[in-house]
Amino acid sequence: MTSFHLNILKFSNIIKINSTTSSSRLLQLRNMSLLKNKSGPIKVADKVAHFKQDVWSIFTPLAAQLNAVNLGQGFMNFPPPDFVRQAAIDAINTDGCNQYAHPKGRSRLLKALAKSYSPLFNRTLDPETEVVVTAGANEGLYAIFAGFLDDGDEVILMEPFFDQYIANITMNGGVPVYVPLRPHGDTNKIMSSSDWKLDINELRSKITPRTKIIVLNTPHNPVGKVFSKEELLEIGQLVQEFNLLLISDEVYDRLYYKPDVHERIANLPGLWEHTITIGSGGKTFGTTGWRVGWSIGHKDLIKTVLSAQTRIVFCVNSPLQEAIAISLEEAEAHDYYEKHISSYEQRREKMCKALSDAGLPYTIPQGAYYVLANIKGIKIPEDYEYPENLNGRPRDFKVCYWLAKEIGVVAIPPSEFYCEGNRHLGEDYARFAFCKTDETLEAAAKALLKLKKYINE
Ligand SMILES: Cc1ncc(COP(=O)(O)O)c(C=O)c1O
Repeated sequence: MTSFHLNILKFSNIIKINSTTSSSRLLQLRNMSLLKNKSGPIKVADKVAHFKQDVWSIFTPLAAQLNAVNLGQGFMNFPPPDFVRQAAIDAINTDGCNQYAHPKGRSRLLKALAKSYSPLFNRTLDPETEVVVTAGANEGLYAIFAGFLDDGDEVILMEPFFDQYIANITMNGGVPVYVPLRPHGDTNKIMSSSDWKLDINELRSKITPRTKIIVLNTPHNPVGKVFSKEELLEIGQLVQEFNLLLISDEVYDRLYYKPDVHERIANLPGLWEHTITIGSGGKTFGTTGWRVGWSIGHKDLIKTVLSAQTRIVFCVNSPLQEAIAISLEEAEAHDYYEKHISSYEQRREKMCKALSDAGLPYTIPQGAYYVLANIKGIKIPEDYEYPENLNGRPRDFKVCYWLAKEIGVVAIPPSEFYCEGNRHLGEDYARFAFCKTDETLEAAAKALLKLKKYINE
C-alpha cells in the first residue's frame, strides 16, 4: 500500500468516526464558497430596505438650493436664549461634565426635571426612578418601543403622525395601526385645531388582542390640536379597559395658546401606571440640535426604558444635559415659559395673517408651532414639470414643490404623516412651521401674496 492509499484510509476513517461533524463542516464549506461567489452590493436588512426618501431630505435641501424661505422643518432659525447658551458654555468648562454620564442621566438634570415637573404631574417625582434622560425625545420613543414590543405587537397611532414613529415601531418588530383625526366643519374656511377630532369608537375598533401601545401626541404636530380633558378621559378609559401602555408625546408641552391649557393624560385617575410622558429639551429651550429629551412615568415603566436605552446610546451627551439642567433651574427666574409662549403667539398671528392675505384657508393651532393650510384651491398649470423623485407622490408633494420653486416658500406635505391607505386625507394640506424669525415670517408673507392669482375663488 502506497503512502497515498494510507492517507486516503486515514482520511476515510476520520470521516467515519466524525461523520456528523464533518458533514456539517462540508455544508459550512459549501455555504462559504457560495458566499464567496456572491457579488454586488451588501444586502440591506428588510426592516430598512423599504424606507423611502424621507420628506425632510427632499424639502430641506430644496429650500437651500432655491434660496426659498424655509418654513419646512420644525427647527428654530434663531438662537436659544442667552441664559441657555451660557449654561452650555459653563457646562463644558466645568470639570466632570465632559465624560460619560450615568445611563439614567446626570444627577443634576434628573433632579431639575423632577423639581420642574412634580407640580405639573401633581405628585413628587422621584428623580432616581421616575425620570430618564434620553437622546432627544426621538431616542426615548425608540427605547420605549424596544423595551415593550415583541414581534407582531400592534401600536395605534393617530394620523397625521410624527413620521419617526413608524420606523421606530417597525425596527423593533411592531406593527403600526392607524386612526385618523378628522376635521369637522367647512375645511374651505378658517378652522380651529379643536375641530380635528378623534372618533373614539373608531379607536376602539382598532384594538385587537395584539394591541400593546397607543401613542398620543398633545399639543399635536402638525394639527396643533391640544386634546381636551374630556377627549383624554375617553382615550384613558380604553387604555385601562384593555390594559395598554400609553405613550404621551408631549414635546410641545410648554407651547399652548390661550384660552387652551395643556392637560396631562398621566394625571387622570388610574393612568399614571399606564403612561410614559415624553419631553424634549430641544423643543422647550429652542435647542433641537442638542438632542436632550426625557421620559417620565411610573418606576416600573421607566426601568424598562432605561434598560433599553442603556443598550442603545448608553448615555446622553453629558455637558448639554448639564446645560438643560441649569436652564430648567433658571427658567422661572427669567420668566422664560411666559415669554416663550407670548413670542410664539405673535409668530402664530403673523403666520395666520400671511395665509389669510394669500387667500388660503387654514387651521389655527391651539399649541405647537405649525399651521396646516388648505391648498386644495391652488391651481397649478397642468403641464408643470416635477422632478423625478416626486413621481408617484401625492398632490401635496407636488404643490409644495411648486410653492418652493414658483412662490419661494418651503412647506411640508403632510400626506407623509398618513399610512398608504389614508394618504388622500392629507393631500389637501401643507404644513408651515412658524418657529422662525420675524424677518423670515415677513419674507414668507410677502412671497405668499404671489399665490393669489393661482387660487380658485
Ligand atoms: C411630535 C414630535 N415628537 C417628537 C419629536 C422629536 O423631538 P426631539 O427633537 O427631542 O427628538 C418631534 C420633533 O419634531 C415631534 O414633532
